[in-house]
Amino acid sequence: MSWFSSVELGPPIEVFQLTKQFQEDDFPQKVNLGVGAYRTDEGKPWVLPVVRAAEKTLANDDTLNKEYLPVLGLDLFSSLSTKMLLGNDSAAVTENRAFGVQTLSGTGALRVGAEFLATYLGRTVFYYSKPTWENHRLIFLNAGFKEAKEYRYWHEEKHGLDIEGLLEDLNNAPEGAVIILHACAHNPTGCDPTQEQWGQIAKVIREKKLFPFFDSAYQGFASGDLDKDAWAVRSFVNQGFELFCAQSYAKNFGLYNERTGNLSIVLNNAAHIPAVKSQITWTVRGMYSNPPSHGARIVAHVLNSKDLFEQWRGNIQTMSSRIIEMRKRLREELETLRTPGNWNHITEQIGMFSYTGLNQSQSQHMVKKHHVYMLKSGRISMCGITPNNVKYVAASIYETLTA
Ligand code: LMR
Repeated sequence: MSWFSSVELGPPIEVFQLTKQFQEDDFPQKVNLGVGAYRTDEGKPWVLPVVRAAEKTLANDDTLNKEYLPVLGLDLFSSLSTKMLLGNDSAAVTENRAFGVQTLSGTGALRVGAEFLATYLGRTVFYYSKPTWENHRLIFLNAGFKEAKEYRYWHEEKHGLDIEGLLEDLNNAPEGAVIILHACAHNPTGCDPTQEQWGQIAKVIREKKLFPFFDSAYQGFASGDLDKDAWAVRSFVNQGFELFCAQSYAKNFGLYNERTGNLSIVLNNAAHIPAVKSQITWTVRGMYSNPPSHGARIVAHVLNSKDLFEQWRGNIQTMSSRIIEMRKRLREELETLRTPGNWNHITEQIGMFSYTGLNQSQSQHMVKKHHVYMLKSGRISMCGITPNNVKYVAASIYETLTA
C-alpha cells in the first residue's frame, strides 16, 4: 500500500520541456526559440558585465552577512525599484503613496499581490488577456481567486490588437474584478496597445471600478528605454489609479535564476500604507517567510550608483538592439524567400517574443522536421535568433508554409 498511488502524472510545462528536448537533440542546426531568455549573437547565455562587476564588489564586502532579510525584503532594493518604475518625480513617490515589496521575481510578485487581494480585499474574479503568459492563470487560482476570465486581445486576421473586443470584455467585467495588464512587450504576442488605446482601457477600468494589476517583465529590455517601457504604468498612476505592478529583473538584468523581483503598490492615501504593509508581511510570512538577498543586492548596488546605472543602461541597449536587428533580418529573409503571408508584424511587435501566426500543427512541424523549437501557439523567442541561424529559421518557416 502507498499513500501516493492515486497521484496522476501531471502535464509537462511546455516551455521548459522544449528546452530539455532541445538540449537532448543532436541535430547540428537545431535552434531554441522556446524559452524567453537572452542569447548573444553566438547563441550563448549572457551574464551582464555590470552584474559581474557588482558581484565582485559584493563578494569583497566583508560587512555583508547571511542574516535574514526583513520579510518585505531589502528596503533599498524595493524603494529604488518602485522609483525606477514610477519615475523619481512621480507624485505617488513624492507623496509617499507608493512602496515596494521584494519578491521571488515577477511570478512571486504576482502571487503575493494576488494572495493579498484575495485574502484582504475579498477579490475573487480576475481577467487575463487571450492569449497571455501561461502562468498568470495558475498563479491567481493558487492564490485564492475563484474565477478566471479572459478578455480578447489578439486579432488573428489583423495580426494585431483586438481593441474593440478587449474594451467590450472589460466593460462586461463585474465591479472589483482584477485585470492583469502587460506593462509593455506583451507576452506572447509582442503587441502593445497604443497610447490612445491605453487611454480607452483606463477609461473602462475607471468607469467599471476594476482593479489594474500590471505585470512588468521587460522594463528597458523592450525598447532600450526605461521610461518609455514604463509609460503605461505611469500614465495610470498619473490618472490617480490605485494599482499593483509586478516587476521582474529576470530579463532586464539577466537574473533569471536569482528570482529577483518587486511588487510595487500605489495607493491614493499614504495613511493606508502601514496597515497594507503589515498584512502583506503576514502574506509573505506564511508563504516563504523572507526573500533571498543575492539578486536584490546586485540590483540595489547598480541602481544606487550613477556610474553602474549608466553601464546597465548600456547593457540593456546591447540586448534590445540585437533583438530589434534580428526582427529586421528575419523579416527580410522571409520576404526574400517570398514566404506566403505578410510579415510586417515581425518588426512591428516589440520585446522578446514574436507571435508568428503559425498555427499549432505548423509550429509542431517546425520542431519535428526542422528542429526549430517553438511554442505550439506560434510564439518564438526572438532572442534565440542569431546572424548564424536566421536564414535557416526563415527557410524552415518557408518550407512549413509551402509544404
Ligand atoms: C517565457 O515566457 O518563456 C519565460 O517567461 C519563462 C517562463 O517562465 O515561462
